[in-house]
Amino acid sequence: MDRSGTLKAKWLVVDDDPAVLDLLQVFLAGTGAGIVTAGCGREALERLAEGPVDVVLTDRNMPGVDGDALLREIRAKWPMTDVVMMTGEATVKAAVEAMRLGAADYLEKPIDLQAALGIFQRVESHRRLRQERDRLRAEVALRDLTQVITANLHMADLPSRIADLITRVFEVPEITLHYTGTGEGDDALLWRSASRSHGGTLSEDERLLAVESGAQGDFLQRRLAGRWVLCLPLMVNAQSRGSLLLARDPRERDFDTDQLELLRIMGSQVSIALENAHLYALATRQMRGTQKLAEVGRRLNASLDMEETLVEVHAGLSALVPSDYSVVVLLDRTQECLHLDLSGLRAPSPELLALIMESVRVRVGRINDAAFRFTTEQPNLRTDAPGEERVTQLQHVSWAPLSDSQGSLGLLGVFRLAGGAFLTREQESVMLLSSAAASALQNSLLYTSMRRMHLETIQVLSKAIDEKDHYTHGHSAQVGGIAIKLARRVGIQSAEELEEIHLGGLMHDLGKIGIRDAVLNKPGRLTSEEYDHIKTHPLVGAEILRRAPHLQPLVAFVRHHHEQWNGGGYPDGLQGEEIPLKVRILTIADTFHAMASDRIYRTGMPVEEILGYLREQGGRLFDPHLVEAFLDCWQRGLITMDDINYEPLAVQRAG
Ligand SMILES: [Fe+2]
Ligand SMILES: [Fe+2]
Repeated sequence: MDRSGTLKAKWLVVDDDPAVLDLLQVFLAGTGAGIVTAGCGREALERLAEGPVDVVLTDRNMPGVDGDALLREIRAKWPMTDVVMMTGEATVKAAVEAMRLGAADYLEKPIDLQAALGIFQRVESHRRLRQERDRLRAEVALRDLTQVITANLHMADLPSRIADLITRVFEVPEITLHYTGTGEGDDALLWRSASRSHGGTLSEDERLLAVESGAQGDFLQRRLAGRWVLCLPLMVNAQSRGSLLLARDPRERDFDTDQLELLRIMGSQVSIALENAHLYALATRQMRGTQKLAEVGRRLNASLDMEETLVEVHAGLSALVPSDYSVVVLLDRTQECLHLDLSGLRAPSPELLALIMESVRVRVGRINDAAFRFTTEQPNLRTDAPGEERVTQLQHVSWAPLSDSQGSLGLLGVFRLAGGAFLTREQESVMLLSSAAASALQNSLLYTSMRRMHLETIQVLSKAIDEKDHYTHGHSAQVGGIAIKLARRVGIQSAEELEEIHLGGLMHDLGKIGIRDAVLNKPGRLTSEEYDHIKTHPLVGAEILRRAPHLQPLVAFVRHHHEQWNGGGYPDGLQGEEIPLKVRILTIADTFHAMASDRIYRTGMPVEEILGYLREQGGRLFDPHLVEAFLDCWQRGLITMDDINYEPLAVQRAG
């Protein structure tokens, strides 16, 4: 019978009977199998240690290391090697025992070579099938891993998906995956694990195993807490950045070389995937940080109003850096605290407030208590919310100076009651925000002082008008007040526009400063020359304003408040909507006020008469729509004689 090529594997034959060894060696050599022999169990172990063997055919009864002991040793150390047990006791019991210990098959003695060949072929065939199955399983595992990696770029999902897959592929009850980033605070961000018993934390022994395995750059296996723990370091650029720990029951089969190889390949893919996810998370975080900062900067510069700017500084701080309280301290030139604005979700307890103030005092020195103010962006929040009383510790503080080219303006601070210390990148965010906030606050301060000067100028001018024309004392301010009510009635709501109308009221008769006293205060009728002189006041006023750039928005009120809807007014004969809406509003308020109040040349007219006149002149002298709105205001009691606030002439003169 030609048996050459029947068998292909490498066989180790072990028997203490040289005759049996010879017989089998000759027989197997004829099948094409590779063959090594050993005369006892100990020698067999030496052969195995020299290099891999596919199948061991061993006698069961041998002195020293017998067949069962050899089988156990092979199962533990060379799990890929199959064992066929030869036994003289052809009993079911012996066969079952051999199979229980992990033998692939058994062979009865004395040996029937024909039957033996059939068994040898079956063992090799099972072996090939198993290898094929393992190869397929490895391919599927790698394909699944690729899918998991490509479908999950986010650090939040990836580690648990990887851990699930590895648990399934290697059929281990416990797996812990951890990975650390490179930046400060990344541990907290990236440590993830999937483990049934660990809950994600490593024991000290496991941590040491991971460190040792990382230093070595390769697998390490150790018996820890009654189980075998295999540690695979996750390497990036030859540096250990994490590890994969697989724990198994010592009674379970050890990982074979193919499994270890598969695990090694998967480990390198996992390292790359986690690194990519980490870099992606970092890039995303940086991008979000930049976007947030740009948005905060935009909002800071959106308003010149001091109150709004302060609200935006606090909102910006809480958007960029998680904290419980933020504080803005503004100092005057002598470095005394001018303003201390504390903001948080709830008012601090007295103990906490004392801690915060002490922290500020250490930085600032003197604090004027009157400067303190607590604000919250959620005014509806209960300030006595449960739990507040227990918060009496200021865990972490980060400060940044508020300074611009002019010098120090003050400082910004954020406080955390719990959680970790402020990270470097969080402190950088506070610093970046502080420079944007400093310029916004400086602008607001300048705007506030400019506005104060602007209003003071108008007040002075308005007073000068009143001084000039005793009989119309209070006229300017009252016309402004009536005009605002009418403006609201026709839908003008913005504070800026309403203020402009108010200031327009104060200033509209500015030109009267240039009118001769004798004409302005003449009791009785004016001559036509005198009347023409009076009619110059809109142009005189506009000319006065010409050189004051910040008062330009008021020029229209001054110049055009005597224009008429039908074009018959002065000085420019504008008609209809050529006259700005706000000026048309002022004109009606001015007319009503002038007719209702006493003048040097007459007493005030009855209201019904005035209202009749306005109704009659709607569409002629006045915008008919505004006349309707004015009459409606009167009917509803929105505008009354109280708006005239008429005072007896004697008192006016005395004032
Ligand atoms: Fe006027
Ligand atoms: Fe007037």
